[in-house]
Amino acid sequence: MGKNILIVGASSGIGAALASQLNDGTNHLYLASRTESDVTGPNIKYQKIDVLEDFQLELPEQLDAVVYCPGSINLKPFHRLNEEDFLTDFKVNHLGAVKVIQQALKALKKSENASIVLFSTVAVQTGLTFHSSVASAKGAIEGLGKALAAELAPSIRVNVIAPSLTDTPLAERLLSSEDKKKANADRHPLKSIGTAEDMANTARFLLGDDSRWMTGQVISVDGGMGSLR
Ligand SMILES: NC(=O)c1ccc[n+]([C@@H]2O[C@H](COP(=O)([O-])OP(=O)(O)OC[C@H]3O[C@@H](n4cnc5c(N)ncnc54)[C@H](OP(=O)(O)O)[C@@H]3O)[C@@H](O)[C@H]2O)c1
Repeated sequence: MGKNILIVGASSGIGAALASQLNDGTNHLYLASRTESDVTGPNIKYQKIDVLEDFQLELPEQLDAVVYCPGSINLKPFHRLNEEDFLTDFKVNHLGAVKVIQQALKALKKSENASIVLFSTVAVQTGLTFHSSVASAKGAIEGLGKALAAELAPSIRVNVIAPSLTDTPLAERLLSSEDKKKANADRHPLKSIGTAEDMANTARFLLGDDSRWMTGQVISVDGGMGSLR
């Protein structure tokens, strides 16, 4: 049976790949971002929001899933990061998710098996240079995911995906030449970079009933980067 699913950030990258996978004629998708998604159809409702500003989501009575995709890759040496960098990264990666989940909670509680999926990064569990701002914000997302998984059980499951470098518009600057692509692929034990579909596959699993006994997890989808030498 189809589900009512809210994806914040489905106009690009992982969120767009997930929206296309879920756009199967049975699910009803509520997509929200600053620009409209290319994923369209009779079961899709788009709303324009900017999570850095005030917004009010229009949601159905019952919601079965929420996926929060907005994020940043603001890589700089620590001494060049200012308060504004840390605050903006925190707002887009973490506070936006807080505001979305708070607005969605009533509708999620009406579902039999509701699921929330959030995005972290490999750089929380594995120290990487120039990642201090984004790793701080994503560390907060992992904490939020665990705390909410405890607080919202048994009615709502909450899990976090921690990707390594994935070929999306967000990572464009890091993958802007064949040399950069190869060097980045070689840093991973599986010798490739991730695709939006790799991440969407995991998100789709976490939204569905096949993961009904999983909550409070941070799942690495990272070509082995976070756990192998
Ligand atoms: N790509 C990677 O290498 C990588 C690695 C580790 C973690 N991640 C995480 O994975 C998640 C998805 O990343 P992605 O690579 O798919 O990114 P992406 O291609 O930049 O897509 C992000 C989506 O979020 C929306 N968004 C961004 N800022 C927003 C705002 N202020 N208000 C509303 N919507 C906003 C964007 O739409 P609009 O611009 O239209 O608003 C877009 O639909 C992020 O949390 C990211 O941190 C990605």
